[in-house]
Formats: sequence, C-alpha cells, structure tokens
Amino acid sequence: MESKLLNILPMDSEVSSNGHLIVGGCDVIELSEKYGTPLYVYDESTIHSMAESFTKEFSNRYSNSRILYASKAYINPAIAKLSIQHGLGIDIVSGGELAVAASVDFPSEDIFFHGNNKSRSEISEAIDYGVGQFVADSFYEIDLINEIAADRSKLQKVMLRLSPGIDGHTHKKTTTGILDTKFGFSIETGDALKAIKHVQSSDNLDLTGIHFHLGSPIFEMEPYDLAIRSVIEFLAPLIHSGFNMRDFSPGGGFAVGYTAEKSPPAIAEYAETIARTLIESCDKFDIPYPRLLVEPGRSIVARAGIAMYTVGAIKDIPGLRKYVSVDGGMGDNIRPALYDSQYEVIVANKLNDTDKEVVRVVGKYCETGDILASSVELPVCSSGDIIVLPTSGAYGMSMSSNYNLNPRPAVVMVSNGNSKIIRRRETYTDLMRCDEFE
Ligand code: LLP
Repeated sequence: MESKLLNILPMDSEVSSNGHLIVGGCDVIELSEKYGTPLYVYDESTIHSMAESFTKEFSNRYSNSRILYASKAYINPAIAKLSIQHGLGIDIVSGGELAVAASVDFPSEDIFFHGNNKSRSEISEAIDYGVGQFVADSFYEIDLINEIAADRSKLQKVMLRLSPGIDGHTHKKTTTGILDTKFGFSIETGDALKAIKHVQSSDNLDLTGIHFHLGSPIFEMEPYDLAIRSVIEFLAPLIHSGFNMRDFSPGGGFAVGYTAEKSPPAIAEYAETIARTLIESCDKFDIPYPRLLVEPGRSIVARAGIAMYTVGAIKDIPGLRKYVSVDGGMGDNIRPALYDSQYEVIVANKLNDTDKEVVRVVGKYCETGDILASSVELPVCSSGDIIVLPTSGAYGMSMSSNYNLNPRPAVVMVSNGNSKIIRRRETYTDLMRCDEFE
C-alpha cells in the first residue's frame, strides 16, 4: 500500500505480512467475516487523538475556549459517551440528537441546540432537559423560545446565528456564510442588529453570545479571518453600549483528507488563525475577550472511520470501463452522489498486489448515480474481495437511509486489537417496525 494512504487511514493502521489492512489492531478481513458487510469501523484512538488535539491546540492559544462536537457528523450513545469522556460539549440540531445525548446523561449545560427551524416540541424537550444554550436562527424561533421559557418561568440562554456574508469556498450545497442562505441573521440586511435587540427585549431570554458557521469543509484560513474581523467590527459598538457578549463561535467546517493528494491544514493552523484574529479584533475595538466555542464535527470522526464492502458483480465494457459493484453504496454514503465527494479506495485483502487496473466502484442501489468512486486504480478485483473507503467516519452513517429497503450497516469500534459492536446491523423487522398492517 502507498504510504501516503496511511495519512488518511485511521491513525492506528498498518499492513500485515499477508497484505491485509489492520485497523486498531484488528485485521479488517476478520472483522468482515465476524460482523458482515457493509460495515463501518471506527478506531477509538483516532477519535481520542482528534478530540485531544482540538482541545490542546485551541486552549494553548486561547485559554478560555471550549470544543463542542458537532454531532450531526455521527452520533450514537457510544460516540456521545466518548465526547463526555473527552470533556467536549455537543452541538445538536434535532430532538433525535438530543434524545441520544440524553440517553447517556450528557451534561445539559454542555448542549448547544442549533438549526434553522426547531419545532415547538423540540424546543420544549430541550428546555425541559435544561440545554445550555439555543443558537437561535430566526425571529419566529426567538419568540417561540421566549414563549416556551416563559411558560416554565425560566430564563433561557441563547446565542444568535449571524450570516456574515463571507464565502468559505466550499461546495455550493454546504456553504452557509453567504447572503443567499437559509441560515442566520444577515448583518448586511440589518436583520442581525434587529435580532440582537429583539432578544435583549425578550423577558425570558438571556443573550450570551454570537455564532456563525461558514460551511464545510473549508480548506482556507482567510474566510475565518475575514468573518471574525467583520463580525467583531459589527458587534463592537453594541458591546460598548452594554451587550455582554460572553460567548463567541466561528462554527466548525475544518477540512479532512479524503484523498491522499489533498491534505487538510493542521488543526494548529485553524486554531492559530481563529485565536489570533479574535484576540486582535477584540484588542482593536477594546472589548473583553469572550469564551471561544469551536464546533468541529467532521474533523473529529471522519478519519477514525472506514467503510467496508464486499465486491459482488463485476461488469466489463470492453474499451470503455469496468464496473466493480459492492454491497453498500448511496444508502450508507450519499456524499459522492450529493456533493461529488471523492474517496480513496483500498482492496483490503490485496494490499501487496501489484497488478492493477482502473475501475469504477459502484453500489447496489437502483440508481445510475450510485457511484462511490468514479475512476480509481485498484488491484485487479474479484468477487468476494473486501473494499475499504477511508475517511468515512463523518456524514456517512449519519446521512444514511433505507433506500431500496436495504438495512443500514453495523458499526464497530476497534481499539488495541479488540472490536465491539456499537450499532448492530438493521434487520428486515427493523425496516417494517413503523408500518401498520393487519
Ligand atoms: N456547526 C454548525 C452550525 C454546522 O452547521 C456544522 C455543519 C458544523 C458545525 C460542523 O461542520 P464540520 O466540522 O463537520 O464540517 N453533510 C455535509 C456537511 C454539512 C454540514 C452541516 N453543518 C457533508 O457530508 O460534507
């Protein structure tokens, strides 16, 4: 296997003498035999290491900082427990994510509830659980949170999500900081100012801070730099006239290495840019340093996870292309179809093979667009081979579906040669458990 692939595989990865991929001390071919495929495997040590790096790199440069795991990247009770273990707070966007956090008694103060259209029942559930903060995204929601908090005689902490009008230069479906987006109160249109005043005049709300998120993945530092400067410049007069901004969040969106060719910036580089720009901007306008909240999702779990599939049918169209079909696809990883995302592909039982060919790796779903890798050079594949897509820990399982009524894959956590199921494979009964029939 090319050594550059080791930079995108889970940190505890190696190749055995018989050419098998080993992750977390476990031979992935043995994992495929034990648990079946498609299978998602998470290396616990990579999650530990990413969580620790974020905490260290930010707190070294800005002591009053806190890392909140953006749980939409992938959450289940086992991952939520790891977040608690690492002292991470959590960013949730639905009642479902709240329920998972609650299932492991996630400390309520450490939960931040985001989203552009939280429902009345989600807001009620969250207030009843005692979530630390809502990140409010619309006038409708400000009023709803105020009303529900008033019903319970509570003073609810909220932050406001602003839209700074800065392009993070990412895919158009994942950009959120520009004017033309459903997210956030625009500074440019005057909504941001109105929203701040509106929260301040709401009896049951305590405006603790300001948030923005530019999109993801963002490979450049400049968008963070520009956005922090312009948001602080906008806020400075309000802070001078009494707004006590205790929290400030430039969101998440930190890039990961999906392909060996395109390396992401180091966490230290993001931390340096964000901390320095925030300190410089606060100094420039003579305002107190707020607590810095950072929300990595993808970068905590993407590298930790691999997706594993078994090769089935192989179709050769002479002179045109060879299709290698696997037993998963767009139902467990919609990202290539949705964002044209690229992945490396590894034949995990043939790492020492030198005889290679270019193929297209496709899934088993009844869609032409069900392509996992459009054109990749692989060892010559046979039915039964085990294919691995590295960097699959974020937004694969969390965006998975039961399309074509395929049960979702099992998820396994590996560490020091041990493996354990953290989500069992779905069954046909699971597929029908919500259906009513005589
Ligand atoms: N904070 C907020 C408010 C967000 O909306 C998001 C992502 C994050 C943090 C975390 O971003 P991350 O660090 O994970 O890049 N499904 C897409 C990404 C959409 C992300 C939506 N919000 C994908 O598969 O790439």
